[in-house]
Amino acid sequence: MTEAGLLDTLDADDRRRLLAATHRRRFAAGEVIFHEGDRGESVHLIERGHVAIRVGTPLGDVATLAILGPGSAFGELALLDGGERRSASAVAMGPTETRVIDHDAFDALRRDHPQTERFLVELLATQVRRLTELAVEAMFVPADSRVLRRLLVVATQFGDADGTVVPLTQDDLASLAGTTRPTANRVLKRAEADGLLRLARGRIEILDTAQLSKRAK
Ligand code: CMP
Repeated sequence: MTEAGLLDTLDADDRRRLLAATHRRRFAAGEVIFHEGDRGESVHLIERGHVAIRVGTPLGDVATLAILGPGSAFGELALLDGGERRSASAVAMGPTETRVIDHDAFDALRRDHPQTERFLVELLATQVRRLTELAVEAMFVPADSRVLRRLLVVATQFGDADGTVVPLTQDDLASLAGTTRPTANRVLKRAEADGLLRLARGRIEILDTAQLSKRAK
C-alpha cells in the first residue's frame, strides 16, 4: 500500500497530527540512510526518489531485497520497539526526500490517539502481503520469469512507458528475483537480442513492455 493509502487509513485529524509529528530529511544519490544492525528509532515515508533495501548475505555479498518509491514506508520495525536493530540497510538510489517519524513521537501519538495505531497495522499488513506474494512466486514461478517480473515491477516505479530506464545492476535484479547473476544475465541477454530491452552499465532500458510481460508469464 502506498503512503497515501496508509495515511488514508486515518481520519483527517489523525493524518494531520501524524504528518505534523514528522520532519523532512534529504539524501543524495548513493547515501546510506541507515545501516543494517544500527539501532532503529524512526520510520521513513518516501516523498521523492527511490530507496534500495539491502542485506549482507552469509557469503559476504550484498543482496537487494526491495526497491521502494514515493508513497512507500520503511524502517517500521523501530515503531514496534524503539531501539530494535535494523534488519536491513536503506540506500538512496537518487536524490531522495523522506518524512521521518521518531519512535517517541509515534508512541506519544498512539498514547493520546489510539486510533493512530491503524497506521502501523496497515504498514505491517502491507509488508506481510508483499512478502507472501514473493514467497509464492519464489516457490512456484521459474527463475527466468521471476527475473523479468521483478524488472517489470521495478520499471513501473520509474515510468510507465517503453523507454523507461531502470537504474538496476544485474546483481540487483538477480537478488530481487532470488536467483544467480548468471541466470539473470542469460535472461536479460536473450531479451536484449530479441529487442525487448537494452543493457547498459548499472541500468536497463525497457523497449517493449508488452512482449516482456508475455515472456514473464
Ligand atoms: P527496519 O528493520 O526498522 O529497518 C530496515 C527496514 O527495511 C525494515 O525495517 C523494513 O522496513 C525494510 N525491510 C526489511 N526487509 C525487507 C524486505 N524483505 N522487503 C522490503 N523491505 C524490507
